[in-house]
Amino acid sequence: MSELVDTYGRAHRDLRVSLTDRCNLRCTYCMPNDFADWIPGDTLLTTDEMMLVLDVATSLGIDGVRLTGGEPLLRPDVVDIVRRINELPNAPKISVTTNGLRLTALAKPLADAGLQRVNVSLDTLDRERFAKLTYRDRFDDVLSGLKAAQEAGLTPVKVNSVLMRGVNDDEAIALLDRALDEGWSLRFIEQMPLDAGGIWDRTDMITADEIFAMLSEKYSLEAVPTRGSAPAEEFYVNGGPATVGIIASVTRPFCASCDRLRLTADGQLRNCLFARDELDLRSALRDESLNDEQRRAEVERRLKLVVHDKLPGHGINDIGFIQPDRPMSAIGG
Ligand SMILES: C[S@@+](CC[C@H](N)C(=O)[O-])C[C@H]1O[C@@H](n2cnc3c(N)ncnc32)[C@H](O)[C@@H]1O
Ligand code: SF4
Repeated sequence: MSELVDTYGRAHRDLRVSLTDRCNLRCTYCMPNDFADWIPGDTLLTTDEMMLVLDVATSLGIDGVRLTGGEPLLRPDVVDIVRRINELPNAPKISVTTNGLRLTALAKPLADAGLQRVNVSLDTLDRERFAKLTYRDRFDDVLSGLKAAQEAGLTPVKVNSVLMRGVNDDEAIALLDRALDEGWSLRFIEQMPLDAGGIWDRTDMITADEIFAMLSEKYSLEAVPTRGSAPAEEFYVNGGPATVGIIASVTRPFCASCDRLRLTADGQLRNCLFARDELDLRSALRDESLNDEQRRAEVERRLKLVVHDKLPGHGINDIGFIQPDRPMSAIGG
């Protein structure tokens, strides 16, 4: 049972941990090519500090931890972090969201350390388009990373795609064709107002309904009945067993069943991707006037407080919605 229940009755079980805000790609919907507003190094949590938070959080009922970023596999000790999470007294399920570039080298060590699942982001099947969309010519590395993840037994590998109008929205069917061939579990994510460059435009984004219509030109899609707290609406493709997911964060928010909390790389707690406020954990972790027991108690208190303060919804569709100050790469997507 989770002790992290908010005032709307939502029990929190899923913690997204950003290991770094740095990245080796520059996906246009995430950060501009010349992005330079990095989190200062001395504010980044050490691995010991992060492990203390994870130890407390899992004792309160967090049973799933997703490592993200920025690009989480850029953290030099990521394999060790996975191993240490797996050794916690209440070890959670561990997954990672990655652009896949370093998976060729790391998939096997990560799986051996206890990683259970991997989500790889891939928005196009065209090498030149990939380079244009990410400002880096690394398409082949993603494909090789996906293969390595499958060979390491991290299956089914999930693939996340964001479609942008006039950029890659002609690839919806091709992405699903390829996913079915390769055994990837594909999910399309609606583009959200979280990019550092502020390019998101509500009137121009590709909606979940459009994605459904595009896929339906070739495939019959039938809703999978059980969704729980999962953000993706899943559909059987041509009767199953293969499925495709659509994450309609903007047009059909799933806030009512949200069970997620976020810890940024610099030790701030967030109860929503779109929250305007963060709750500082780093100051408690670095407060030298506290002994170990007091520090744990303070981390527990702040975890409960951030859950208590969670709003019923993200408000993207409200008049007056203001994009969070920090971009997705700093929050931990
Ligand atoms: C911020 S990234 C971090 C992990 C890793 N670097 C990656 O790309 O998978 C996590 C996920 O957020 C998605 N993402 C980033 N910016 C987004 C945006 N503005 N709207 C929707 N999804 C976004 C990415 O496509 C990716 O699947
Ligand atoms: S989506 Fe992921 S890979 Fe792309 S720029 Fe953002 S953090 Fe990097």
